[in-house]
Amino acid sequence: MIQDKKTLFSGMQATGTLTLGNFAGALKNWVTLSDQYECFYCVVDLHSITVRQDPSTLRKRARDLLTLYIAAGLDPVKNCIYYQSHVSAHAELAWILNCFTYMGELNRMTQYKDKCAKHADNINAGLFTYPVLMAADILLFQSDVVPVGIDQMQHLEITRDIAQRFNGIYGEVFTIPEAYIGKSGAKIMSLQDPTKKMSKSDENPNASIYLTDDPDTVIRKCKRAVTDSGNEIVYREDKPGICNLMDIYMAMTGRSVAEVEREFDGKGYGEFKMAVGEAVVSVLRPIQERAESLRKDKAYLDSIIKENGEKAAYIANKTLRKVQRKVGFPDRIR
Ligand code: TRP
Repeated sequence: MIQDKKTLFSGMQATGTLTLGNFAGALKNWVTLSDQYECFYCVVDLHSITVRQDPSTLRKRARDLLTLYIAAGLDPVKNCIYYQSHVSAHAELAWILNCFTYMGELNRMTQYKDKCAKHADNINAGLFTYPVLMAADILLFQSDVVPVGIDQMQHLEITRDIAQRFNGIYGEVFTIPEAYIGKSGAKIMSLQDPTKKMSKSDENPNASIYLTDDPDTVIRKCKRAVTDSGNEIVYREDKPGICNLMDIYMAMTGRSVAEVEREFDGKGYGEFKMAVGEAVVSVLRPIQERAESLRKDKAYLDSIIKENGEKAAYIANKTLRKVQRKVGFPDRIR
């Protein structure tokens, strides 16, 4: 394959329903980046089972997530959109990289510590080696850039460390990936507590707007969003609620702080919240419509899943074979 574009890899877990935060902070940027890079967008279902999952729910959510990738604007012909579990090289490389990763390094991962606290009844080895699987995801495709949120930076650092360590022993096998911190990647906070990130696992359904929410629900959640004292629409540190709603509005409309402040000069919170809700609805509606028609066209989606899975496997296997040779596994007889 002749390739002049750099390679980009990213993935999301198929747990919970995607929120507006996932969309504005990640998916929307993925769409923008997809012209510039050779992109791999993975549904990381192997990662999902580090926490106990109901099988039929996981299966459904994985398909919904893959559908949403496409519905949000990722062209499945230009971008390789696939399930991690369909490409066995992920697990195989992860095993090898496990042998090049130190317990001490993994012990320092803050997400691991958080998850242990949250899932005290199921602290399994997969939770511990989660970052190694993520390293395998990224390194299999010789990725140059990885768009990630701040919470995944530590995992990207360990990926780089593992790759450098491996290259140090065996020569230039892996491309060392760089984090891509989006310039425009808005960080959307909870509608009920603007000091907390909007999360798909929030227990309060009013705290998050889900990509599947219908217009009435979106408007209602925006109207109920926690705001600050006062009545001005200004982007100021002492107004985290209004700042968050402005961030949402800006992410939906592409407008700047100054433009939004001007637009709502002299207007109250009620009117502003209504406008935010409508802006969200106008972005979500076409996505939901595309998702719905994709869901109906089972044969089409299946063909995308099959073709992209095969393409990803082909590319991933090239790296895997090289690694297997390097570490000394016997050649395959052909
Ligand atoms: N750990 C990431 C998250 O929870 C998901 C992920 C898995 C990922 N593998 C990846 C992200 C590789 C970027 C690259 O958000």
